[in-house]
Formats: sequence, C-alpha cells, structure tokens
Amino acid sequence: MRNVRVTAAEASRADGVSPMDGVSPVDGVSPAVAGFPAVGASSAAGVSPADASQSGTLQSGTLQSGTRVAWAGGGELMFEARGLVKRYQLGEVEVLALRGVDFLLRSGEFVVLLGPSGSGKSTLLNILGGLDTPSEGFVRFRDHDLSQGDDDLLTHYRRDHVGFVFQFYNLIPSLTARENVQLVTDLAAAPMRPEEALELVGLGARLDHYPSQLSGGEQQRVAIARAIAKRPDVLLCDEPTGALDVRTGIVVLEAIERINRELGTTTAVITHNAAIAAMADRVVQLSDGRVASESRNAVKAAARDIQW
Ligand SMILES: Nc1ncnc2c1ncn2[C@@H]1O[C@H](COP(=O)(O)OP(=O)(O)OP(=O)(O)O)[C@@H](O)[C@H]1O
Ligand SMILES: [Mg+2]
Repeated sequence: MRNVRVTAAEASRADGVSPMDGVSPVDGVSPAVAGFPAVGASSAAGVSPADASQSGTLQSGTLQSGTRVAWAGGGELMFEARGLVKRYQLGEVEVLALRGVDFLLRSGEFVVLLGPSGSGKSTLLNILGGLDTPSEGFVRFRDHDLSQGDDDLLTHYRRDHVGFVFQFYNLIPSLTARENVQLVTDLAAAPMRPEEALELVGLGARLDHYPSQLSGGEQQRVAIARAIAKRPDVLLCDEPTGALDVRTGIVVLEAIERINRELGTTTAVITHNAAIAAMADRVVQLSDGRVASESRNAVKAAARDIQW
C-alpha cells in the first residue's frame, strides 16, 4: 500500500468535516416520546448552563438534569441535548435555525430525522457531531460537554467518536478506495483495517479503484467505510442517499443498516425521504427549528424492502 500523504485541508475534507460540507444537525426529543417517558418541566428549562458545566458520566436512566428516565430496552444514554437554540445573524436579519430543541439518543439506536428544507435538521446534526455549537442550551456526549465551543475538545471529540457521511462523498480523487479509508485509519486509536471496512460495505472487490472508477453508490459506500473504519461511537449521516437513484440508495442504506446492526454503532440519518423512516427505531420530525413530532417503529423495515 502506498504511503498516503495529503494536506491538512484534504484530510479534513476526507473526514467529511470541511466548511464546504455545510453544517447543521438534528434531533430533538420532545418531552413525551415513546421510549423516553416525559421529562416534563425539565425539558429545556430543567438544565441550566451551570448544570451543563458539571462533568460526570451519565448513568443509564438518569438525565443530567436529574430526571429519572425508564426507557425500555436499555442502552446507555449517549447524547442529551436540552433547549438548543441556534441563531445566525445576517446583517439586520436574525435567523433562528433551532428554537429550543430537546434531544436524547441512546447507545445503539437508529434515528431518522425528517423535516422540510430549512427546518434545522443539518444544524442539529452538526451540533451533535461537534461541527457547530448552540447559541443557547447544552449538549452532552457521555461526559463531554459539547456546548462550550472548546475547539480542542470538539476536534478530539470528532476524531475519536464521530463518523460523518454527507450527501456528496468528499473522496480524494487521487487516492484509491483503500487509501481514502486509510487516511482515517492512520489517525485512529483502534481502527479496523481499511480492507475490512470496505468489505463491510460490500466493496471488497473495489479496493484499488479510484473514485472516478466507481459509481455514485460505490463512492458513497467508500465514504461510509471511511466514516466507520475508526469504529466511531456515532455515525451521523446528512442525506446520504440524496444524490442517488432508488436502487443505489437502497444499497447505501443496507450498508448503514448493517453497521448499526453488526457493530452496534449509534446512527442518526437525515433524509427528505419519509419512506426511509421505516428503517429507524425512532423517527424525529423537525419543523421550523422545533421538534414537531416523534414516533417509534414497533417493527423496523429492512432497507431492501423500502420503496420510494
Ligand atoms: N451559516 C448559516 N448562516 C445563516 N443561516 C443559516 C446558516 N446555516 C443554516 N442557516 C439557516 O438555518 C435554517 C436551518 O438550516 P438547516 O441547514 O439546518 O436546515 P435543513 O433542515 O438541514 O434543510 P435542508 O433540508 O434544506 O438541508 C435555514 O433557514 C438556514 O437558512
Ligand atoms: Mg440540511
């Protein structure tokens, strides 16, 4: 294998986190959510910035706010976000991308985030992934407080814990599939081998292909292999099938489904495609910067059975 050398800018792009990727995330757990019993008055208001500054690993069943939660099925509470507000100032005009979003995500869950364009999905996902920070509210990943905008902490958090997949694959054209994945595994603490990651997404026979020699769906699967090769705790996907036709999109969804099922990687997927929600454990619908509704699928559909 070649020694893979790239510039810092390329490496950042390879990890899917360049400014060009756009930014904005997802997720909110309304106070009364299936599987997440009401947190009542503790929603946004129950957690002050002072609370957020206390560190300590979250215990399963106990929110940072002190509220007991008895969700079914176990799973460590991985993310707790409370009262997220994201404000952008464009000259005289203030844009409120998030208007008070509460969101919980537990280990191993597969959550789909739906909502119209501009509803705040990417803003929420980017905050969960440490690409952006809220204007108000707090967000915690295990014992990491992600709200304070500490660049060093966020950089380490992204590197050690988060895999990103975006609509446009951001592969480096001059590197093969294997080398694109190797860029990330070279930096990770306990990565899988690039070949293993590519095998997991069904590309064991495409290791030495360059991006220009791969279909769009194959390129997206290389991007997924790159995201999961470092064994991230959470896989965050912003419209991963947005640029693909149905058949190819399903193959990409099958790869994401497999990662969630076999590696247990906590997964959040943004999509405009409501049919994809059938794959999720839980579906969160955003509207105008708020969580409009949330539901849980009693039975999850297999990606291959989804039609749109
Ligand atoms: N950097 C920014 N500066 C100003 N406004 C922004 C910025 N990023 C997002 N916004 C605004 O915040 C709102 C939410 O944006 P976001 O990208 O989260 O929406 P989205 O739900 O992901 O939409 P889409 O489905 O089109 O990707 C939009 O009105 C958007 O214009
Ligand atoms: Mg978006």
